[in-house]
Amino acid sequence: MANLTEELVLAALRNVREPELHKDLVTLNMIRDVKIKGDDVSFTIVLTTPACPLTAQMEQNSKDVLAQIGARKVDIHWISEVPSDQRIIDRLQVTFHNTIAISSGKGGVGKSTVAANLAVALAKMGAGVGLLDADIYGPNIPLMMGVDHLPRTTGDKITPALAYGVRLMSMAFLMQPDQPVIWRGPMIHSAIRQFLTDVDWGQLDYLIIDLPPGTGDAQLTLAQSVPLTGAVVVTTPQEVALADALKGLKMFEKLEVDILGIVENMGPYIDPKTGQKIAFFGEGGGQRMADRLQVPFLGSVPLDPAVREGGDAGQPIVSSRPESLAAQALNQIAQKVAARISVLNLE
Ligand SMILES: Nc1ncnc2c1ncn2[C@@H]1O[C@H](COP(=O)(O)OP(=O)(O)O)[C@@H](O)[C@H]1O
Ligand SMILES: [Mg+2]
Repeated sequence: MANLTEELVLAALRNVREPELHKDLVTLNMIRDVKIKGDDVSFTIVLTTPACPLTAQMEQNSKDVLAQIGARKVDIHWISEVPSDQRIIDRLQVTFHNTIAISSGKGGVGKSTVAANLAVALAKMGAGVGLLDADIYGPNIPLMMGVDHLPRTTGDKITPALAYGVRLMSMAFLMQPDQPVIWRGPMIHSAIRQFLTDVDWGQLDYLIIDLPPGTGDAQLTLAQSVPLTGAVVVTTPQEVALADALKGLKMFEKLEVDILGIVENMGPYIDPKTGQKIAFFGEGGGQRMADRLQVPFLGSVPLDPAVREGGDAGQPIVSSRPESLAAQALNQIAQKVAARISVLNLE
């Protein structure tokens, strides 16, 4: 018999670090329900996001340190509680915990594709996810998610559409098809406030917002109408696109919104048959920009025809082709975004 006590178990677990938050599990308050039966130990680890990629490593390290103090069988139960951005709760009295803006310096770089796939990836990992399509110039998220109308609303709040486990609301649902809308500042502001407060989002860990491209007045109004936990900037690897993305970064800096990182989209593609690498729009630009600006590089999504086909068919690639390199890259980016949010909220 090793005479285990809860104190001994916790002292041992102080030697296990959360690899992304860089503190130990006990300091981070992640250990709950320690139970000891003879030499058998069980406890719960509370993750800060269900999108945590490193549970296997934490499990092994926990088992190792507990074996050292004589534990025989170790049973770990996992749950997650995503920490909240308090500014959102204070300003809006809503039930979502974090807001993530997806932005780009110009159109056509795959901002909406990234937004839709990140949302689906996080939902698949078990998070409560909303997707707000606020791109007033080209609200095409419903198309990419295979949704063309809102469900009928029964209560006094608008019921969002549901696709791939993601609750979805779009500017497109407010517009007449084929009718141009001229959005003025106050209209944008009130539409966004309505989306945030009059939609029945339920409990959301992450609300992902597809912003219009660029850094004009509309973008500014939008970014100021919502308390943003952080922003993801999407760019292609070329220098021109990078110059545009730079402007986007500067805008968020001015608004004091944290940059979660840069996503390079339409990056080098590896032909699965020949193994040949095709760098249609160049290579390494996203990483170079992140280095230069000292913001995190979140990853590169290859230019892959399957991404476009998935988008056109209303089937995001992380759902339809999870084994593809593009889907894998998007999943990893989703995990990195979630980890950055946890770090920001725990700081
Ligand atoms: N990694 C990619 N590989 C291939 N096609 C892509 C990729 N990312 C986006 N696309 C396609 O490029 C077009 C523009 O993407 P979209 O997400 O609508 O850009 P944005 O929202 O920035 O204007 C769409 O047809 C989309 O399917
Ligand atoms: Mg778009």
